[in-house]
Amino acid sequence: MKIDLAQLDLNIRQWLAASRQQILLAMQSPLTVNTKSSRKDLVTNVDRMNQQFLVTQILAAYPDAHIEGEEGHEAKIDRLKGLVFIIDPIDGTMNFVKQKANFAVMIGVYCDGTPVYGAILDVWRNELIVGGPDVPLMMNDQRLNQPEDAPLADGLLGVNGPMLINNRLHVAEIALASSGPRLLGSAGIEFKSVALGQQVGYISYLQPWDVAAGVAIGAAFGLKVTRPNGDALALLEPGVVVAAMPQAHAQIMEMMNA
Ligand code: IPD
Ligand code: CA
Ligand code: CA
Ligand code: CA
Repeated sequence: MKIDLAQLDLNIRQWLAASRQQILLAMQSPLTVNTKSSRKDLVTNVDRMNQQFLVTQILAAYPDAHIEGEEGHEAKIDRLKGLVFIIDPIDGTMNFVKQKANFAVMIGVYCDGTPVYGAILDVWRNELIVGGPDVPLMMNDQRLNQPEDAPLADGLLGVNGPMLINNRLHVAEIALASSGPRLLGSAGIEFKSVALGQQVGYISYLQPWDVAAGVAIGAAFGLKVTRPNGDALALLEPGVVVAAMPQAHAQIMEMMNA
């Protein structure tokens, strides 16, 4: 199937600009915060509102699209057939609640399982990263340079807190071999940091909506995104994700599988 990329880009930029205005407005009132699976797994009225908003916009423009979202009431999808939008209405909900900063809205678009377009909006900084296999890497209206393919020793590495603390899959040793670990609390902001060349990679346990936009954007600049054993992601499955520039990715694979 073929999709008009210029129109998709325009649509997503408009939706995310509207999302941002609504989120900033909602932040002026007290948030309703609920826990899901644990005290560290939060959802707010704003996560739900933005999911609803994005679903409505997507279906108005693409009535045949399938949608997977974190706070969804839609039927869960079990395969990437046709046009699929994978959305995270607020990524970094804990940051959103505690810091009122460092959170993102993410949309990943796939056609028959192939990434087409990704968008990560850093809401607080008003920085939108977009890209895809046939979409140049951009921040807002500016083309970004290809991030440097630095060796692990020369780059900062985004890591998941529990994996670092527990040295799961040698992540503590891998972090020590880098220029230093970083824990940003939002997968979206981590992928954005890699796209901007501020970090050489990111390792975490992620759900489909945490990774869908980053994988699509990464296709614009040669980011390698795999499981710890080097396998490609089955995008709809949660699991450990290693996303890094090629040199660092190869070094991480070696250390993880030593
Ligand atoms: C979370 C953030 C966090 C990551 C978690 C995610 P959410 O997303 O991306 O950085 O470590 O695994 O669940 O739940 O705030 O959208
Ligand atoms: Ca969540
Ligand atoms: Ca979320
Ligand atoms: Ca998320």
